[in-house]
Amino acid sequence: MSEVHVRVPGRVNLIGEHTDYNGGMVLPAALSVGLELTLSPRADEHVMARSNGYKDVQRSLSDAANNNWSDPVVGALREARSMGLIAHGADVSITSTIPAGSGLSSSAALIVAVLKAAREAGRGEQSNEELAIAARRVENEYMGVPCGIMDQMAVALATSGAAMALDTNTLEYELFALPKTHKIAVIHSGVFRKLTEGRYAQRKQECDEAKAFFGTEDLCLLDPEEVTQSSFAETPRKRALHCATEHRRVLAAIEALKANDIASLGRAMNESHVSMRDNFEMSLPAIDALVSDAQKFGATGARLTGGGFGGCIVTCVESAAFDDWVAKLLAVHPKAKLIDTVCGG
Ligand code: GLA
Repeated sequence: MSEVHVRVPGRVNLIGEHTDYNGGMVLPAALSVGLELTLSPRADEHVMARSNGYKDVQRSLSDAANNNWSDPVVGALREARSMGLIAHGADVSITSTIPAGSGLSSSAALIVAVLKAAREAGRGEQSNEELAIAARRVENEYMGVPCGIMDQMAVALATSGAAMALDTNTLEYELFALPKTHKIAVIHSGVFRKLTEGRYAQRKQECDEAKAFFGTEDLCLLDPEEVTQSSFAETPRKRALHCATEHRRVLAAIEALKANDIASLGRAMNESHVSMRDNFEMSLPAIDALVSDAQKFGATGARLTGGGFGGCIVTCVESAAFDDWVAKLLAVHPKAKLIDTVCGG
């Protein structure tokens, strides 16, 4: 059978962190960094995986996840087989410009790319949304990462130049043009992390405790005042408070985008960082310093983005001031690196 080629973007989340498994909204956007993947179905159960930056590996479709870079490939091929898209294994080659462990969905992009390629190879009729749901299953069930649905939906469906306002409860979404006068810039802090390291799972666990206490699956829909006044233990109460307030900040950010009110969008981003730092406790001193200098040098908004505990910040900066701003910021943060910029015009 012939080769199939697909491209899938990385994503940055403008705002709405850890709301996607707590019944809330998120606002991700497709990046220009992305992943190119070629897939050729095989007649046996082997998986040959090649990628720039990693060692080639030969795996079997019956392998359990073993913390190798190729786990998303094997997991996605197993899922593709159970969906009837491929009959056996496959050769998969990847060229990616999405830095791994940086909060830019490199893993979701890889899984969605394999599923999209397998859909083409198998002439399947699954929608992109169905593939996103299948991709989340690969992370949750095969890889043991208890993530939500944001990354998979964003990389499967987002289009360049637009932000995706996604309700993670219903999977309904709307696309809104990114600002034309400002750049959304993604800057790596220089600190790398892995979702499988355990702190993400710990936060998920604390949210589950809060769900049991408040008697709801949707922490994001709780009244923040009710959470603050509750007699619940301090740590899970702070996690719930983050979810309830973050969801409202996403709604404010969507209104701001619609009205082209970039100052309000930036304010929501800045407030989000404070809540991630103080209530969800998912930031690190090096990232707080980067965010604070990004704001000091003139960003309209700046915050940590993604799962936390390392990775990237997302900033919103007036285009005319951008070159000066980024030069100043990188001069005082030599480990930081500009990864990408996206905008609406
Ligand atoms: C990671 C997860 C997502 C989401 C974010 C935090 O990217 O994969 O599901 O929970 O962290 O917002």
